[in-house]
Amino acid sequence: MAKIPYNRPHLTGNELQYIAEAVANLHLSANGEFTGRCQSWLEQRLGAARVFLTHSCTAALEMAALLVGVETGDEVIMPSFTFVSTANAVGLRGGVPVFVDVRPDTLNLNESLIEAAITPRTRAICPVHYGGIAANLDAICAIAARHNLFVIEDAAQGLFASWQGRALGTIGALGAISFHETKNVISGEGGALIVNDPTLVAKAETIWEKGTDRAQFRSGEVDRYTWQSIGSSLAPSEITAAFLWAQLQHGEAITARRLVQWERYHTAFAALEEDGMLQRPQVPRECEHNGHLYRLLLPSAEARQEMIADLDRAGIHAVFHYVPLHSSPAGLRYARTSGSLRVTEDAAARLVRLPLHASLTEAEQAHIIEAVYSAFRKPAVCL
Ligand SMILES: Cc1ncc(COP(=O)(O)O)c(C=O)c1O
Repeated sequence: MAKIPYNRPHLTGNELQYIAEAVANLHLSANGEFTGRCQSWLEQRLGAARVFLTHSCTAALEMAALLVGVETGDEVIMPSFTFVSTANAVGLRGGVPVFVDVRPDTLNLNESLIEAAITPRTRAICPVHYGGIAANLDAICAIAARHNLFVIEDAAQGLFASWQGRALGTIGALGAISFHETKNVISGEGGALIVNDPTLVAKAETIWEKGTDRAQFRSGEVDRYTWQSIGSSLAPSEITAAFLWAQLQHGEAITARRLVQWERYHTAFAALEEDGMLQRPQVPRECEHNGHLYRLLLPSAEARQEMIADLDRAGIHAVFHYVPLHSSPAGLRYARTSGSLRVTEDAAARLVRLPLHASLTEAEQAHIIEAVYSAFRKPAVCL
């Protein structure tokens, strides 16, 4: 039996047809028909003021840092338990990522520790919605409002998930989404920046258009476009947007399928949690998640390594992440921490992420569940 990968990109069947249409349109660079379709669709589906497709979520986060005006020495509060792009976006502008510990239940930014990290240089708070389960956005937005800070949601994993019924990425001033091939809806590499603060829309348009007023040129307001401010090449090509269009149309179905798989794991491992063998993820009642990933916390770092090795022997590729940024070479150099990061360090050492993707079969999932149980020398519960 071939190894069960932790991720397998899921294709909807229409990707090549739309790519062929994009090629036939002879508009292969950015901002053509498919880009427009994807952006409008996302605006409507998510209830977002403006969506700009980007070539990655990394690019969307970098665009966000430019938009809120992060400058040398400015600070942005974020978890250390995140992907490097959250911090790189700030570091690239000469800013300083400030790491705050996460909550033990969701592994998201601990809202009760944020205010202690705020200084006169703080510009923004960047919560990460780990696994599509939202950080406490009510508390975070209230703190941001009190201190006049921007909220940039790193919703890389959060498409179609919500907080109190509102789509992730649409609640802060800005939200960044990923369409990387490991996400629920994919375009190989890809992303989007959601601009919710209406005062930022015009500036976002200029940055996205490589620092020019090309949008006004396109609408006939000016007769040529010129360099207006610092911007970059952030938009994907039409070929990528065509692929994404095929995926978005099946986005709800993909999410529904992943949610079934997530629930199957969750039900199966309840007995192990009751016996104190592991901890399952917790979903606060305000959150509707999107089945993006399923992770367990083992009792110790050694137990986690043994579990990954046991699963490997059973033909299953399980992984762990993230290596906390504050202890990484670049984290030590470019960032600072606020308070203890005990929960981050503890969870990162004990976490294992199981395969979860839309084309995972029931038989594969049953095999994974059985392998986790046999790692504890226990018979699997029958589902
Ligand atoms: C929390 C978080 N932020 C940002 C990113 C970067 O996304 P992309 O690969 O689309 O640049 C990722 C990627 O996995 C992520 O998990």
